[in-house]
Amino acid sequence: MKRPSQLPSADRLRYGADYNPDQWLDQVQVLEEDISLMQRVQATSASIGIFAWTSLEPSPGHYNFAWLDDTMERFAKAGLSVFLATPSGSKPMWLSEQHPEVRRVTAEGRREPSGGRHNHCPTSPVYRSAVARINRQLALRYGKHPALALWHVGNELNGECHCLLCRSAFHAWLQKRYHCLETLNRVWWNSFWNKTITEWTQIPTTDPGNDGLTVDWLRFVNDQHVSFLENEMAPLRELCPHVPCTTNFMGTNRSTNYWQWAGSLDCIANDHYPLPDDRAGCWRKALGTDFIHSLVRGLADGAPWLLMECSPSSVNWSRINKLKRPGVHLQEVLQAVANGADAIHYFQWRKGLGGHEKYHGAVIDHEGSSDSRVFRECAEVGKVLRDLAPVAGLAPERAKVAIIYDWESRWALEASAGPKKAEESDRHNEACLEHFRALRCAGIEVDLIAPNAELAAYRLVVSPALYSLSAETARRLTKFTIAGGAWVATYLTGYVDEHNRCWRGGFPGPNLREVFGLWNEEVDYLFDDENVRIEGALFGPGGSATATDIVEQLNAEGAQTLATLASEFYANRPIVLRNNCGAGNTFYIGARLAEEGCISFYEYLASELDLPRLVLPRGVVRKTRAGADGPVEFLFNYTREEVSVDLGEDTFHCLVDGHACHGKTTLRPYASLVKGCRPASLPPPSPTPLHPTHEEPQLSASPRR
Ligand code: GAL
Repeated sequence: MKRPSQLPSADRLRYGADYNPDQWLDQVQVLEEDISLMQRVQATSASIGIFAWTSLEPSPGHYNFAWLDDTMERFAKAGLSVFLATPSGSKPMWLSEQHPEVRRVTAEGRREPSGGRHNHCPTSPVYRSAVARINRQLALRYGKHPALALWHVGNELNGECHCLLCRSAFHAWLQKRYHCLETLNRVWWNSFWNKTITEWTQIPTTDPGNDGLTVDWLRFVNDQHVSFLENEMAPLRELCPHVPCTTNFMGTNRSTNYWQWAGSLDCIANDHYPLPDDRAGCWRKALGTDFIHSLVRGLADGAPWLLMECSPSSVNWSRINKLKRPGVHLQEVLQAVANGADAIHYFQWRKGLGGHEKYHGAVIDHEGSSDSRVFRECAEVGKVLRDLAPVAGLAPERAKVAIIYDWESRWALEASAGPKKAEESDRHNEACLEHFRALRCAGIEVDLIAPNAELAAYRLVVSPALYSLSAETARRLTKFTIAGGAWVATYLTGYVDEHNRCWRGGFPGPNLREVFGLWNEEVDYLFDDENVRIEGALFGPGGSATATDIVEQLNAEGAQTLATLASEFYANRPIVLRNNCGAGNTFYIGARLAEEGCISFYEYLASELDLPRLVLPRGVVRKTRAGADGPVEFLFNYTREEVSVDLGEDTFHCLVDGHACHGKTTLRPYASLVKGCRPASLPPPSPTPLHPTHEEPQLSASPRR
């Protein structure tokens, strides 16, 4: 059951960082300075104690809360609030040495050494009860503390454990799902290669040759994390039901089907670290960040959410740890806000002197003062976020177009040998991202939704590479279309059922041949340096597009052909088709279209379906949060170049220098402007627009409809 979204209450956007006072207990002066430095960047909050278990419980059952008492007091006194972490993200040595079962076992059967993090066994009763005990202590001690605003439960829960405890829990999970081995053997197609199981205990946790087992294993692992999370939250909810609980997600992380986590939490939090890249085309990466934020908006069911971690400067784990160029950091922060974030927290407040993350970006450098460039930028961000207080609590605007994002299709594709190139594992994710980008470039707003989401509010649903398609999901999408909706499906649609068994009767399954008016007979793969030409009037002047990687061999069975293949032995075969389905339409794109072709397709669709869209130059994005007193709008230039736009009568402000812009305007590289929220702290509006220009804009910024 979905819990109502319940962000920690605040009359402004939250701003803060992961804070580790436990690493500085011998340097009291540092702790004292931290509070006043936090106030100087206008921070509101900090996530505390994420990896602090040993500092809180130095030996089993012996607690040391003095430092946390002190920290909570300092925060309360300064008017700052605390997102108090449960410390399960890493284990005390005393626990992992005394009870090796809490340590994870790899797929090869090797138990991991003590140390490390995010590597506990999610099944271990010893670990679960140790976690529940320390969480209970925290709830008892701080549940009513005035500084406590939110429970930050664990940290980035993910990964697999193949120990015997997990193995038998997997068996129990399978028994509950399939009841008898006959069913399990049938749905896993176990007569292949002598995989037939005759005792539940024979079932391994991993068998790369068993496609059905692999997806069930991934489902089980996901369920174990959710039940581990529930176990963590039980004492917190029992003792302080008034304090919301969340855990920090990792966007599109492979092993975590967050659609199934979201309902257990009171609000949604995500960690996101866009890697700085100022090369040509960097705007595409920024749209990739919008893609992640849209997924988080979907997980939050349209409510505001928290960006729980991002870096104020560089990271230390990428191949090349670049610095962000001027304007980029502020833009990333506002980009999250525009997408519904009501809190921006960094990893990390202060660089440690030692440990694995001593070179990771932080608000406070080893040098220790407020003199750094990063500190100044963070202070500027703090001021801007304070000025944006009216945005807090406003919902990001819902789109009329949705993309179905499906972890199950990712898992099923990953588990199958083919239909994909041998080395690739994430075709579904990539297809969703490409179609998201193309829709955004065509000026169309997009939500990301779960396969079982309510569809009625949408005019168009796009399901890129929805490879694993259950009869129920197919039925719901068909119903949506018959009722007048439009459904776009692509290559790799409806190949397998929920057990990763191919649908009989021809793809797309199940029974979707009629819905799409076509039969997908075969699929061709292209070498990386090969492509296939496509022709069709829908691609605009010239009427052609390019396909890469994957080209299906389609037969029209009643559908209208919109584009055909124009090279190779399969020239003249249909590749983009349209079908009438009840009061609605289906569209099928049987090849991976290169960017321009994909954008043209959605431009065609927008005009066919009369979809609302806003055409702006490539890399310029406008985003809205809806408020009772009118919307607040954000305008971004994601490119490294100046871009000309025509803002018409709309007046946008730069929140840093207060300048107003309207009419024909040149946006600076990485510019971020806001309309509908002109804070009192800004100087009076300037009579002249920022960077007036006499150049013609490439495209009008005014809404078409
Ligand atoms: C996150 C993690 C943080 C920190 C950060 C560094 O994945 O939750 O604790 O390690 O990465 O970028």
